[in-house]
Amino acid sequence: MAKMEVKTSLLDNMIGVGDMVLLEPLSEESFIDNLKKRFDHSEIYTYIGSVVISVNPYRSLPIYSPEKVEDYRNRNFYELSPHIFALSDEAYRSLRDQDKDQCILITGESGAGKTEASKLVMSYVAAVCGKGAEVNQVKEQLLQSNPVLEAFGNAKTVRNDNSSRFGKYMDIEFDFKGDPLGGVISNYLLEKSRVVKQPRGERNFHIFYQLLSGASEDLLQKLRLERDFSRYNYLSLDSAKVNGVDDAANFRTVRNAMQIVGFMDHEAQSVLEVIAAVLKLGNIEFKPESRVNGLDESKIKDKNELKEICELTGIDQSVLERAFSFRTVEAKQEKVSTTLNVAQAYYARDALAKNLYSRLFSWLVNRINESIKAQTKVRKKVMGVLDIYGFEIFEDNSFEQFIINYCNEKLQQIFIELTLKEEQEEYIREDIEWTHIDYFNNAVICDLIENNTNGILAMLDEECLRPGTVTDDTFLEKLNQVCATHQHFESRMSKCSRFLNDTSLPHSCFRIQHYAGKVMYQVEGFVDKNNDLLYRDLSQAMWKASHSLIKALFPEGNPAKINLKRPPTAGSQFKASVATLMKNLQTKNPNYIRCIKPNDKKAAHIFNDALVCHQIRYLGLLENVRVRRAGYAFRQAYEPCLERYKMLCKQTWPHWKGPARAGVEVLFNELEFPVEEYSFGRSKIFIRNPRTLFKLEDLRKRRLEDLATLIQKIFRGWKCRTHFLLMKKSQIVIAAWYRRYSQQKKYQQIKSSAIVIQSFIRGWKARKILRELKHEKRCQEAVTTIAAFWHGTQVRREYRKFFRANAGKKIYEFTLQRIVQKYFLEMKNKMPSLSPIDKNWPARPYLFLDSTHKELKRIFHLWRCKKYRDQFTDQRKLIYEEKLEASELFKDKKALYPSSVGQPFQGAYLEISKDPKYKKLKDAIEEKIIIAEVVNKVNRANGKCASRIFLLTNNNLLLADQKSGHIKSEVPLGDVTKVSMSSQNDGFFAVHLKEGSGAASKGDFLFSSDHLIEMATKLYRTTLSQTKQKLNIEISDEFLVQFRQDKVCVKFIQGNQKNGSVPTCKRKNNRLLEVAVP
Ligand SMILES: Nc1ncnc2c1ncn2[C@@H]1O[C@H](COP(=O)(O)OP(=O)(O)O)[C@@H](O)[C@H]1O
Ligand SMILES: [Mg+2]
Repeated sequence: MAKMEVKTSLLDNMIGVGDMVLLEPLSEESFIDNLKKRFDHSEIYTYIGSVVISVNPYRSLPIYSPEKVEDYRNRNFYELSPHIFALSDEAYRSLRDQDKDQCILITGESGAGKTEASKLVMSYVAAVCGKGAEVNQVKEQLLQSNPVLEAFGNAKTVRNDNSSRFGKYMDIEFDFKGDPLGGVISNYLLEKSRVVKQPRGERNFHIFYQLLSGASEDLLQKLRLERDFSRYNYLSLDSAKVNGVDDAANFRTVRNAMQIVGFMDHEAQSVLEVIAAVLKLGNIEFKPESRVNGLDESKIKDKNELKEICELTGIDQSVLERAFSFRTVEAKQEKVSTTLNVAQAYYARDALAKNLYSRLFSWLVNRINESIKAQTKVRKKVMGVLDIYGFEIFEDNSFEQFIINYCNEKLQQIFIELTLKEEQEEYIREDIEWTHIDYFNNAVICDLIENNTNGILAMLDEECLRPGTVTDDTFLEKLNQVCATHQHFESRMSKCSRFLNDTSLPHSCFRIQHYAGKVMYQVEGFVDKNNDLLYRDLSQAMWKASHSLIKALFPEGNPAKINLKRPPTAGSQFKASVATLMKNLQTKNPNYIRCIKPNDKKAAHIFNDALVCHQIRYLGLLENVRVRRAGYAFRQAYEPCLERYKMLCKQTWPHWKGPARAGVEVLFNELEFPVEEYSFGRSKIFIRNPRTLFKLEDLRKRRLEDLATLIQKIFRGWKCRTHFLLMKKSQIVIAAWYRRYSQQKKYQQIKSSAIVIQSFIRGWKARKILRELKHEKRCQEAVTTIAAFWHGTQVRREYRKFFRANAGKKIYEFTLQRIVQKYFLEMKNKMPSLSPIDKNWPARPYLFLDSTHKELKRIFHLWRCKKYRDQFTDQRKLIYEEKLEASELFKDKKALYPSSVGQPFQGAYLEISKDPKYKKLKDAIEEKIIIAEVVNKVNRANGKCASRIFLLTNNNLLLADQKSGHIKSEVPLGDVTKVSMSSQNDGFFAVHLKEGSGAASKGDFLFSSDHLIEMATKLYRTTLSQTKQKLNIEISDEFLVQFRQDKVCVKFIQGNQKNGSVPTCKRKNNRLLEVAVP
């Protein structure tokens, strides 16, 4: 998404004032108040013109995110609220676009945030400059050089847990496109005394603790070290652990960073070996040993440590041992060897340790430079970042503080020069009259220190080189002589009587009035530190080491290159390097970051006014503001100025159609500011007093409010109107739609009515036409019919003479006759068989013959039955008569009857005439025997059965014994009154006899026979033919019989299965005889 171009300004939403130049009134108090106010609102950055003041927040603020980087990228310096990124962006862009080499000077006291600031600048530049694999590698190497240098050059102090103990200047080199190519690092004055001794509450350099905490057991063993800090004299114990710092993790970070920067494994190993050697050196102790000549000589107490050092570094143990005991002084071909006493031995040991370490550090810087140096020879653009210790004022200030403060004086000098020069140049560029600015120039103090003939450093060197006894006191004396009259030099002993009675100034001290305040220096140690003496025996011993790195660190130990000239003193070395630095800086466009420490407790949210006041003073910040304001407090290019204030004048609002400068002129004339308050430069307007600017801002604010009201008014009007118009438009649309709808509806109604009416009319018309057509058709039909009839009549009348009157009837009858004839003829062929039981009969051919057909069938059937009957003989006729009689008597009355139909009535089952057994019986009977059969006679007393021969003749009924044929009973048929039997399927029957007859003395008979139906029929027929009376045959399941005197009831019971299918008879009592029928 394209970023919307919003024109903002530093002046928007300011807390206090974002630029101290605008402070009104300007005083130390208001300055601090403004800083404090901003600090309390987490605004840690404030400008003085283009200088950034940074107050250490001691907590992480969310103002360094990638989004912030984007915010500040390519924006004007005063466009957004003050930020270190704004300065970095300005520097980077003028480097890239205007081809101006830049330097970023970061100053402030220890713990004020210089190193952090330098890292922020670097990371910002890294974020905004070119991208790509190669470029990224360069960036990475540049950024990763920091952890390495911090491990070896930083230490925990009471002021700062990660205090840089060296000055650092880094040139970052870019190509014409602004892509980083590489860099060069210079280091200044490492605080090497820290290696052997640390003040209370402070630590040695981080690397020692990191190595012991983070190295693997294996590595420690290789380095002949133990993990325990307390084993090493050089490590202070009281603050070995720092809160929130993980030494072991940092060790890994450092090893990793070394790898990224390009250290080979063996190089890193060598570096750690040197560190180990330094640590172990501290453990070498000496004891006095009296010698023959009465002098004390030092001896190493325990040679074990020495042995291990020698193993580690590859130095001959005896060589090193000797170097700790003797000192050889060479002067003009003469060599004098003196023994060292214990104090000297310790001095020599510590000097060696310090030298080893500081040389290692310089080597590291060189090694890093080798890695990060630009690979091309093309012209480079340079951005230098200077992170150097600020002014130091301690209780005891020594040589180091002197040197550091000297450096700061020089920086102040360059600041003044460059700022003023810049200012002046701008005025010239802008064609503004230059007015002289009154400010304190510290050149005189620089001169006091660095003057080649009578400067303090020159005096010190002179003392150090002077033969004879040289002490710190002789040095002070010399100072007292030479500098006594200097305005900024103070000493009790000076010839100048001003300080004779100043008790705050001890005798062994001198005081310098630095631009940032007075500092009192203890002269003790000045000479030694300046000499920075390392006995030649030691450097030679080191050179002899087989450890290549150590050998390389001590090139002067090479006897072939022996140089009798004294090495340059520390002071002169430093002076030279500062001079180089200054020269370097002068060629560049300076950007200042002034770091301020808000409190001594490293704590967030605390703002100690006194402490800040002190820093403001010695950093000369007020002076800075004054210089900046001396001419004109505020300046701004015409375009943004017109853009910002054009609403204050009718001619320029809302658009000015001319050059911006003319617009601003019109604007300022209109506003009637006093003429001396502003000047018109070539491209910028210069405002002398902040008051004027604020007035402008006020006017703008009020005007903006008015404008806002105006805009609001217009907007509201516009909104209402558009709303109204919209409503109106909507109303019209709705109305149109509604009208359309209602018209549509009306139209539909009319249309449908019209259709109804139309349809009615059409219907009516159609019906009328239909009626007419129908009438017409009927007429036509009538005509046709009449015509037809008429025609018919005519024709009939015509043809009547050709036909007899009732020919139709004749034809009809003839036809009928023919049909009947045909029917009969066909029937003849289709006749069924003559069997009376044949049910077939042909189908009826004509409906009108239905009744005839049925009748014919009946007649045919009767005829064939008669035919059938005619075939019978007389005998057969008799049989059938008998069967017919039986049917009439028993059909549907007795269950036994159907089974008898198929049996022919034989009558004589027993052939009495043929069986000789019955000869007597046969002889006794003369009559014709109708039935001869064996029956079971039921015993009247007990119901048991006995076989009897039953004979029926024309007149009698006879019972004979079956075996003997002897006649037992004879009953004339006239005495038989009744025959009773059941309706069931049994063969029992009772023969009732006439009461009082001879046969009836024993009572009625009860028989059972297999041929009951035949016997009963024959009995009936015979009786009828003989007596002309119908025999009573009773069919009932319960009847009475007369047994002698008793009337016994014979009862037929169904369902007794006990005796199989044979009915059983049982006399129950003298009234009941039960017959069980299956
Ligand atoms: N901009 C910052 N934001 C947060 N903390 C900071 C910032 N600047 C400094 N500090 C804190 O202050 C400490 C000291 O800063 P440092 O840059 O090492 O001081 P100097 O280099 O001036 O001695 C840092 O370790 C960090 O904790
Ligand atoms: Mg630092």
